[in-house]
Amino acid sequence: MKIMSVVGARPNFMKISPIIRAIDSYNNQLNISEAAAGDKTSNLISHVLVHTGQHYDKAMSDSFFEDLKIPMPDISLGVGSGTHASQAAEIMKRFEPVLLDQQPDVMIVVGDVNSTAACALVAAKIDYDGTGRRPLIAHVEAGLRSFDRSMPEEINRIVTDHLSDLLFVTERSGIENLKREGVPEEKIFFVGNTMIDTLMASRELATRSNALGSLGLVAQNGGSAGMVLPYALLTLHRPSNVDNRETFLEVMSALQTVSEKMPVIFPVHPRTRKQIAAFRIGECIGLHYSAPVVPDGGGKVSMNGAGGIHITDPLGYLDFLCLMTHAKIVLTDSGGIQEETTCLGVPCVTIRENTERPVTVTNGTNMLCGLERQSIIDTVNLQLNRSKPGSGPELWDGNAASRIIAVIAGGR
Ligand code: UD1
Repeated sequence: MKIMSVVGARPNFMKISPIIRAIDSYNNQLNISEAAAGDKTSNLISHVLVHTGQHYDKAMSDSFFEDLKIPMPDISLGVGSGTHASQAAEIMKRFEPVLLDQQPDVMIVVGDVNSTAACALVAAKIDYDGTGRRPLIAHVEAGLRSFDRSMPEEINRIVTDHLSDLLFVTERSGIENLKREGVPEEKIFFVGNTMIDTLMASRELATRSNALGSLGLVAQNGGSAGMVLPYALLTLHRPSNVDNRETFLEVMSALQTVSEKMPVIFPVHPRTRKQIAAFRIGECIGLHYSAPVVPDGGGKVSMNGAGGIHITDPLGYLDFLCLMTHAKIVLTDSGGIQEETTCLGVPCVTIRENTERPVTVTNGTNMLCGLERQSIIDTVNLQLNRSKPGSGPELWDGNAASRIIAVIAGGR
């Protein structure tokens, strides 16, 4: 069997990494059992990795391949940035000949980025040989719904789910959403969360990160020398938060108030960096620019527990995981970070009106606060006094990827 997996943007990489490992261990198991039976290996899975190039900066792409030990892509489409339509169109144009050439039996797409939907659309209409033969489309992280169609990701989720043959779901809400939309039950598989597989496999490695020291978050003097100082960790990149000056300023003004209590560490996405400059946010909100996080701890700055909003470049996976693990609180508009903080038991405030991941609120450590200044401040205060860590969502146990490969290899 031949499987092709597609990645394109930063949140795809941690979802595909355990799937590639699960394919390797499936093949190893098969080799062992077939060798023991004196059988010739015939059912091995061959794997082809395609990178669309939606994200292309070292910090947004290459560093994740290094941190997560993902093999280099077999095929890179190099599409780069663009409007939604031009980016999706470029992906489709470049992906079609690759699919026709490779003719995989199964194509795996993950998450909800433009690359996910664009490649699913190509695969759904391809005809390998004039007989209508095409790959089975497997969507990992199916069924999530924010019920907010102004989010580009919601459109990508709906389109991808309705084109897919195998829908792998991370939480029970996904099953209900898909059934309500008429997706046949036999296509839906509740397997857990491959992003959490990666987190669990990486926690030990992340303890070796020098991010805390590099950012001056370790006390240098006195009785508490060596202890991690309290800090908040922030990410913001959704168009709904950063593409409108008034909204962006309202959110940042709340975060400035939060930063009077403790430093707010803010690794900025390229989109957000552009908007900070375009809207001259730094003229209204005090922003400090921190030296890059480097493995040897060079460029060390000491915050000595001082407040303020501290901007860094986007961080690698292991450095960010280290910072999430030790944060007093995480503030974000990302989808995946809501899940990761739930798994780590770290309080999370989601700066959005809705979430497509309700299990992080009902079972986890997440609270929604909307985009209003006072509501953001109040929710942060509530979360800082939170005592209950939340319980881990069902099947978020580090084994989602092997369940997915078992379903695919089992012929379903
Ligand atoms: C995309 C996903 C979003 C995901 C996010 C994670 C879609 C619709 N959105 O949003 O769901 O949460 O990735 O990061 O697919 N840029 C660079 N370097 C890069 C990549 C982007 O400078 O390596 C800049 C470009 O100016 C680009 C902008 O960032 O126009 C936005 O990139 P894009 O891929 O369009 O969307 P994201 O906001 O990153």
